[in-house]
Amino acid sequence: MTFQTQLRIPGPTPLPERVVRSMSRPMIDHRGPEFAAILAEITDGAKRVFKTSNDLLLLTSSGTGGLESSVANLVSPGDEVIVALCGNFGERFAALAAAYGANVVRLEFEWGQPVDPDDLAKVVERHPNAKVVLLTHNETSTGLTNPLRELARVAREAERIVVVDGVSSISSIAIETDAWGIDVAVSGSQKGWMAPPGFALVSVSERAWAQQAKARSPRFYFDWKEAKAWAEKGMTPFTPAVSVAFALQEGLRMLEEEGLERVYERHARLARATQSGLRAMGFQLFAQEGYRSNTVTSAVPPPGVDVAAFRKLLDQKYGVVIAGGQGKMNGKMVRVGHLGAVADGDVVQVLWAIEQVLEELDVAPAEGRGVAAATASLQGVPA
Ligand SMILES: Cc1ncc(COP(=O)(O)O)c(C=O)c1O
Repeated sequence: MTFQTQLRIPGPTPLPERVVRSMSRPMIDHRGPEFAAILAEITDGAKRVFKTSNDLLLLTSSGTGGLESSVANLVSPGDEVIVALCGNFGERFAALAAAYGANVVRLEFEWGQPVDPDDLAKVVERHPNAKVVLLTHNETSTGLTNPLRELARVAREAERIVVVDGVSSISSIAIETDAWGIDVAVSGSQKGWMAPPGFALVSVSERAWAQQAKARSPRFYFDWKEAKAWAEKGMTPFTPAVSVAFALQEGLRMLEEEGLERVYERHARLARATQSGLRAMGFQLFAQEGYRSNTVTSAVPPPGVDVAAFRKLLDQKYGVVIAGGQGKMNGKMVRVGHLGAVADGDVVQVLWAIEQVLEELDVAPAEGRGVAAATASLQGVPA
């Protein structure tokens, strides 16, 4: 019997009660002063999280809409665009650029490995006409965080426009948009922001605006210029996801109450505990050590585990929902999300349930090794 689902996928993330309640309000006029005040509060709060004084646009879409807006506003058909990739979301970014007619230059790494800044430097040098570089901060499909500060520096020093997919990192993993020279950063409301899906958050630098003025891809719904012009009047060009705005406002307030540094530390602590617990139960961590993500842990189960049956039992009997592998890792890997409104005890509960399921599938005895390792990690005992 389970009473409450433990949603441990890497987004959408669980909603705190306060956030759920914030949405139980009547609809308001999205062109009136109440919405304008909410939009201003969200924009200012998100800028503090992005660490940017650039423009920050709120687009009603999932994260991919924010990424698509970057390509639509910065790239012209036939332009060379460098895409550094090491997983499924990097692949998608490349496909998106190709869909807009870009001439995509791929810098590709094995899944589970990070993008190497030295290799990026070589590609950038070999392609002097590629004005735009697309990077993924946190590769959710492999549970890996790329060395973004170094990657952005390489691209920026070569005077390229740096665009970052920060959908599953920004607000959970440290980023310094301006200090690191990031021209465009994109996130999605359903990740660390503790709100439902519905908004893409996009920061745009002066250099990106200059490129935007020159780029010639078709754009309408995602035209940044329209978004900025309407934001200056306290509105969005089209009807926004008003209820999600209520939620994002509340989620941001909670992030500020906890304090960003503490939020980052909590995510790092949860990641370490999850890694320790899974390892103790015979899982192989997938992402290279040193680059493992603080928002999602990827792991290959012990031999004999049928991933689909494992996840099904975990959900049906224990109410714990985790993700499987994506793309070529489908059926071979599990991914445990620990971003947003997730506390220490939640991770222990997930590992406990995983251990029960391993026993029920006759893979390993439930001796409490996973919980013990995770608990020790949470208490700061070195692994
Ligand atoms: C790194 C990354 N990029 C892009 C996306 C796509 O975002 P959405 O599903 O909100 O369009 C996701 C979603 O999981 C993601 O994790």
